[in-house]
Amino acid sequence: MENLRKKLQLINQSQVIDFMAELSPDRKASLLRQIEGLDFQKIPEWVEKYVKNEDCVKIPDHFDPAPSYPARPNTAEQAKKYAEAVKIGEAVISGGRAAGFVVAGGQGTRLGFDGPKGNYPISPVENKTLFRIFAENLLAVGKKYNTTLPFYIMTSPLNDDATVAIFQAANYYGLGKENVFIFQQGTLPNFDFDGNILLSEKDQIASSPDGHGGSLLALYNSGAVADMKKRGVEVLSYWQVDNPLINAIDPLFIGLHVADKAEMSSKALLKAGPMEKVGNFCAVDGKVTVIEYSDLPDAAAHRKNDDGSLAFELGSIGIHLIDVSFIEKLNNGGDFALPLHRAVKKIPHMDKNGRRIQPEVPNGVKLETFVFDAIPLADRSVILQTLRAEEFAPVKNAAGTDSAEVTRQMMTARAAAWLEAAGAQVPRKPDGTPDCALEIAPSFALTADDLKARFNQIPKIKSGDELYLG
Ligand code: UTP
Repeated sequence: MENLRKKLQLINQSQVIDFMAELSPDRKASLLRQIEGLDFQKIPEWVEKYVKNEDCVKIPDHFDPAPSYPARPNTAEQAKKYAEAVKIGEAVISGGRAAGFVVAGGQGTRLGFDGPKGNYPISPVENKTLFRIFAENLLAVGKKYNTTLPFYIMTSPLNDDATVAIFQAANYYGLGKENVFIFQQGTLPNFDFDGNILLSEKDQIASSPDGHGGSLLALYNSGAVADMKKRGVEVLSYWQVDNPLINAIDPLFIGLHVADKAEMSSKALLKAGPMEKVGNFCAVDGKVTVIEYSDLPDAAAHRKNDDGSLAFELGSIGIHLIDVSFIEKLNNGGDFALPLHRAVKKIPHMDKNGRRIQPEVPNGVKLETFVFDAIPLADRSVILQTLRAEEFAPVKNAAGTDSAEVTRQMMTARAAAWLEAAGAQVPRKPDGTPDCALEIAPSFALTADDLKARFNQIPKIKSGDELYLG
């Protein structure tokens, strides 16, 4: 014990064994295992560089707006490139070289839902959960292209057991257990403002998931990458658990990524305003780099082009393609690490006297990594713009912006737009929103074009209807 204390003292963290003498042998062993898992080498650096340093984010001296592909081609030449890209993407999909990957390890504190966010019922008519919608998407893509799309799901220690139980109970949503790979991301310890690691219990180091950037380590360490290689999967389609509008496997996006020999690519939205809370796609030394909304200087955020559009108009929405070989390359050296970001939080903990404290004001720092920080490490990277109404309706909050209610409205609105494009009549309220609830199952149509092809199966829609096309 004295040796351990000395070792911990060297990194100023001996407080984590303050209650050791009071613990039963089992609990002692559990705490010792957690201490063994700490990164003794890096902790002092984290404390100095991130925990005690409020200005730990370094904005590059020079950055420009990143180039991107528009959502729809603007020129004949571009139209040709897009058509070719779709063919390339379709060949990748039908060749079994693509897979779906959802990051679902977050805490979902803002939504305040009991259980993994992926189990949140969201679809406007059938109340399907997010996980079910994603799985049905992959199934439908598999059917369309006569292949199997494996589904990788990243959880965290907070929700891994529950997520596994949900998939089991749902019989893997028809994907087959062998095609669903659930794995856990890592965690990082929580600190007080002086850099001391906190205990959440006398035998428990306070910790939290290491951010969605942790996926790039966890995909490798969990054996997911090895599984992909065994199956011949080359491109991973990455999305966030909160977005039911995701076009999970997009031939155009995959085709542009492959045609341009990109290693990690992104979809982007045109920002709703200069200060929208999304990361900004920038170019730094020729590399695509995301600068968080909170870090982008005001002048840059408001800068306009001659035509009045925002200079930095591309927002990041957590939709990426990642080459399996890129994940391997990052991890091969053994010391791959993304920069850490600090978040000031209220962290429940034990005080010096062993009393449990539920802080009412922020009392410490959680550290996490962001997946988009890997983009500049890629040799090449593509950005494809997408349309908010088509592909982005995240469920983040219990009420107001980005709430489940807004997401459901957007799901109905997209279905209405597809139906009208197919030639159907959708009753609308005076404010223009659909006067009905609409849901199109992925098995019925994955795209507006798929729906057009099934026009004769669309019934007449009346005000107040709840229509499910499945
Ligand atoms: P958010 O930034 O929305 O965080 O995550 P969150 O933890 O889910 O929700 P709040 O902030 O507590 O309300 C964006 C995506 O990244 C995943 C989330 O599950 C979500 O799909 N994520 C986030 C992880 O997988 N691991 C993490 O450590 C953090």
